[in-house]
Amino acid sequence: MSSSESSTPPMPKLKMSKLTNTIPEQLPEVPDLENPDYAAIAARALPLLKERLDDYGYAHSLYAAQTARDLAVIYAAEGVDPQDAYLAALLHDWDRGLDRETLLAEATTIGIELTPEVLAAPQILHAHTGAAQVKHIFPNTPDSIITAIRHHTVGDEDMDALDKIIYIADMIEPTRDSAIVHTLREQVGTVDLNTLFLQAYQATMLHLIHNRKVMHPRTTEVWNALIMKGMPTLDYHADNK
Ligand SMILES: [Fe+2]
Ligand SMILES: [Fe+2]
Repeated sequence: MSSSESSTPPMPKLKMSKLTNTIPEQLPEVPDLENPDYAAIAARALPLLKERLDDYGYAHSLYAAQTARDLAVIYAAEGVDPQDAYLAALLHDWDRGLDRETLLAEATTIGIELTPEVLAAPQILHAHTGAAQVKHIFPNTPDSIITAIRHHTVGDEDMDALDKIIYIADMIEPTRDSAIVHTLREQVGTVDLNTLFLQAYQATMLHLIHNRKVMHPRTTEVWNALIMKGMPTLDYHADNK
């Protein structure tokens, strides 16, 4: 085999996540939450988030929260309380800043099996451990919010509208910048929530494949379940501009 045959052909990168890691100078304002429980949780959580996350992660959380609230308003027919969306997205990356060892230890504590796929991509665990931590620290957080946090990386066969909004907001909040993100943003409000979510989930899978990253087996299970449920046909093509 010649060297040219054995060399790896160039593959376009699907840049799903932060491209520039740019933190906008002006962070979004935290709204007054009418729900007193939520207001109290947010007030306690914000300084903790600032400690737990780096500057980008903190900004990402605030922007995801704002975006999730906007999505809940735009998709009002889905019946998601914008305050639920805001709080869930604000807290969704609670454990995103943990180092590998701490993350694995926390995952073990809550009974997650450390399979080879998990060990190859341990960052997915932050959704599960973060959900458990948020419930522990803020016990009056509704289960629907805890579940949305847990579902924001790998997802689940039975995601409700709040789960989908958090998943999408995480991907399209304003600090994210890529062709796929722009495509998804343009479709907000023009396609139904299921369509938007499926396209976001598909984009995540394509990102993993194009970048030759490990895909957790649950991802394919979730994908198959979504498709077999009759999720909408796609007219979306991932490009790499
Ligand atoms: Fe996350
Ligand atoms: Fe996130």
